[in-house]
Amino acid sequence: MKIAILGSGGREHAIGHAISKSTKTGKIYCIPGNAGTSSFAENVDIDLNNFEKIYQFLKEKKINLVIIGPEDPLVNGIVDYLNKFKIKVFGPNQKAAQLEGSKIFTKKLCKKYNIPTANFGIFESKETSKKFLKKSKYPLVIKADNLAAGKGVYICNNIIDSNIAVNEIFNGKFGVAKNILIEEFLDGEEMSYFIITDGKTIKSFGTAQDHKRVMEGDKGKNTGGMGAYSPSRLINSNLEKKILSKIITPTLEGLLELGIKYKGFLYAGLMIIKDEPYLIEYNVRMGDPECQTILPTLNSDILDIFTSCVEEKLDRANLEWSDKKSLCVVLCSNGYPDKYKKNIKIDNIHKINLDKNSYLFHAGTKNLENEIYAVGGRVLNFVSLSNDFSKARKKIYNNLNKLNWHGGFYRKDIAFKVINK
Ligand code: AMP
Ligand code: GLY
Repeated sequence: MKIAILGSGGREHAIGHAISKSTKTGKIYCIPGNAGTSSFAENVDIDLNNFEKIYQFLKEKKINLVIIGPEDPLVNGIVDYLNKFKIKVFGPNQKAAQLEGSKIFTKKLCKKYNIPTANFGIFESKETSKKFLKKSKYPLVIKADNLAAGKGVYICNNIIDSNIAVNEIFNGKFGVAKNILIEEFLDGEEMSYFIITDGKTIKSFGTAQDHKRVMEGDKGKNTGGMGAYSPSRLINSNLEKKILSKIITPTLEGLLELGIKYKGFLYAGLMIIKDEPYLIEYNVRMGDPECQTILPTLNSDILDIFTSCVEEKLDRANLEWSDKKSLCVVLCSNGYPDKYKKNIKIDNIHKINLDKNSYLFHAGTKNLENEIYAVGGRVLNFVSLSNDFSKARKKIYNNLNKLNWHGGFYRKDIAFKVINK
């Protein structure tokens, strides 16, 4: 089979790496890919918003299956666009992708189907929001409705913070804002829960806990993710049953009632409070770096899984997982998540030796005359599997020491909740 993968992050490198192991895989293209993906695929530089150009390329190369990594093209309707030309695509269509594209759409769905989530209100102007905020109890959470690349969420401890949030959102910091969401603050521990579905069958795709904040101790600014570990320390079969019966199943059935069949990965960002799950947000894709963390523990052929999902035969797919623990540390450019320099050479990358339980997934990198350069905020993902988290982390930090890259930094406390007890 000829495969195309859309995206350029660590998630897409991990997906491509898993696909390249399948005996059914022929040529792989990554659009646009990174220096890592070029080891098993041909990178093709096409803008992910240019659906027409993407279609022309897929047609010319007679691609059999397309995998969409990031949320933007999904929310913008790439699946619907390519399906019109009978191209097989793994990922949800535009209506289904509203689960991530519009927080208000998801909140309304939760309300209609009694899905546990933070209490909320939707406000249409600065004035009505501020009137409500004056008599509210703090902390509370204020969110822009639309896609904001992980930003657009404000945890507010007082009225001053909340007025800043309301002004910034309505002044268009995250795009045109017709309304905003004000939510109750949920005090618990977060966990990421993943499934894959073909619209009929739901299969679990693992759990993880990620570290979104840039500084050690989970402090500082939000990032795309500084590291993760899987499985989550919170998961147990009783909790999983509740997540499926109270959150995932009513969501997918609710969508079906609206005439929307969800196909693809679904990522539930959950807050667990006293063993009860509450939905914080949905993402219509795998997480990054959760994907890099979870995929190396999949023992089954991922191409079979994707194909059976697209053909609505997921009930026949076999998903077998290693019971090893997995940990991922993300190496970032100095300055991230704010401004950082680009085109910094990563000198020692060729010195990294990986054993069979270790992986190096690229993110913001490019290859120039056989040298690797950092071109993004998140640069490399070091992943290791082991029987315990502590050993996995030690192996990763050894490799990071060997790399000794002065252009970047990484958190030295990934998975501290399961290691530094
Ligand atoms: P979101 O983009 O909705 O996932 O929000 C980003 C982050 O803000 C989440 O990962 C949580 O850490 C935090 N957050 C969002 N909503 C809430 C809430 N209602 N209560 C507590 N924390 C929240
Ligand atoms: N790791 C968070 C995300 O992928 O949204």
